[in-house]
Formats: sequence, structure tokens, C-alpha cells
Amino acid sequence: MINMIFLGPPGAGKGTQSANIIRDFNIVQISTGDILRAAVKEGTEFGLMAKKYMDEGKLVPDDVIIGIVKDRLQADDCKNGFILDGFPRTIPQAIALDSMLKDSLNTEITHIISLEVPDEDILERLTGRRTCENCKKGFHIKFAPSAKGDVCDECGGKLIQRDDDKEETIKKRLNVYHEQTSMLKDYYKNSGKLSIIDGTGEPDEIYTKIKGILS
Ligand code: AP5
Repeated sequence: MINMIFLGPPGAGKGTQSANIIRDFNIVQISTGDILRAAVKEGTEFGLMAKKYMDEGKLVPDDVIIGIVKDRLQADDCKNGFILDGFPRTIPQAIALDSMLKDSLNTEITHIISLEVPDEDILERLTGRRTCENCKKGFHIKFAPSAKGDVCDECGGKLIQRDDDKEETIKKRLNVYHEQTSMLKDYYKNSGKLSIIDGTGEPDEIYTKIKGILS
């Protein structure tokens, strides 16, 4: 059983590597960013509230995110294992996760992987990121271009840029990461479950390291 937390700054490659993990290990990815973007797209009251924070590169309030993750983890498809991508992001979120796993779900985290990428690389990664509007496959205009140019090479969908992948917002997101999220490595350092991986280099090489940890 793999119940994994994926840590790392924005643009470290958590989404890219999660796609490999869910394919090979048959577990689900729970991306709080994707859940929030879906709510924004639906235009719900909650989505409009979340958008304000996301567009400014800030974190959505802890109580909101904790409630979302608690509901999602109770779904049947999480029973075979899950990747938490983008959660926890603050110490209060990590404490809430500990208690929801122990008290309500009777399970535990098995692996915590932190992908390390320097800030200098993040800007180029995120300004060049594109995502298929339809199937959500991720691309990069330089590092992982679509074989079909401007459209998705799997489904032909339009490739779009995220609203928060503007240079100014990326810098704010990186500050938030350093101020509120990176200390989670300290929080988990005595758990015996934390692996810190160099996230620079070829995605396939990075995945080989991740697969080695999970196998
Ligand atoms: P979220 O969606 O979680 O964004 P993030 O953590 O900032 O991470 P990203 O999705 O930007 O990056 P990634 O690590 O997945 O990188 P990717 O694989 O795409 O959160 C967005 C917002 O939602 C937050 O700012 C916040 O407002 C809110 N939110 C979410 N969770 C929250 C929470 N728990 N609490 C409060 N608020 C929350 O890769 C990036 C690019 O690089 C791609 O183009 C890819 O092709 C390329 N790439 C990947 N690997 C490599 C490589 N090895 N070499 C070169 N390029 C590469």
C-alpha cells in the first residue's frame, strides 16, 4: 500500500511525476490545486473565493482545504492508496492530516517525497508550462513540447496556460513556499518516511529514483 505525500516548490514536477506513479502503482492522485481549479471553472461561490487567493499566489485558508481533503480521502477509490499532491502545505494542515488519518480513516502515510528544484529553474519551468484543457495532460514549450504543436498530442485539446503562471505570481508562490511550506520537511524529518530527491535533470531519471523508493 502506498499513501504518499508529495512535497516540493511550485513547478518542482509533482504533477509530472504523479502521472507516472498513478500509472505504475494504480493509486489515485489528490491534487488540491486541481480540485480548486475545477471549482473556479465551475464558477461556484467557493471557486470565486479560492480564485482570489490563487491569483495572488497566496494559500487558500487552512480550514477550507482541510475540509476538502478530509471528504476526498473518504472516497472508495482512496482505499488502494493515494498521492497527496499539494497538501499539506502548512503545519496546521499537516497536524490536521495526522488526526484525520488516525481518527477517521484508520490508515497512515507510508512515503513522503520532497522534490528539490532551485528557484532559478522554477521560473523557466512555470512560464513555459501548458496544460491540455480537455484531458489535463501537462506539457512544457521547451522541455516537454506536444508532438502536435499547439494542441494536445493525445486528445487534440487546446493547450492553455494557468492564470497563476505569470512571472509576478510565480515569485509570490515561491515566497509562500519558502515561508510556509518548506518547513514541513522538518516536521516530517523524524518520521523515517521522508526522502529528499534532486528534482533537476531529465524527468525519466527523476522517476527512476522515485520508483526505487516506492517499490
Ligand atoms: P498547485 O496546483 O498545487 O500548484 P503548485 O504546488 O504551485 O505546483 P504546480 O502544479 O505549479 O507544480 P508541479 O510541482 O506539479 O509541477 P509540474 O509537474 O506541473 O496550487 C495552486 C494554488 O492553489 C496555490 O498557489 C494555492 O493558492 C492553492 N492551493 C493548492 N493547494 C493548497 C493547499 N494545500 N493549501 C492552500 N492553498 C492551496 O511541472 C511544471 C513544469 O515543468 C511543466 O511544464 C513540466 O512539463 C515541467 N517539468 C517537469 N519536470 C521537469 C524536469 N525534470 N525538467 C524540466 N521541466 C520539467
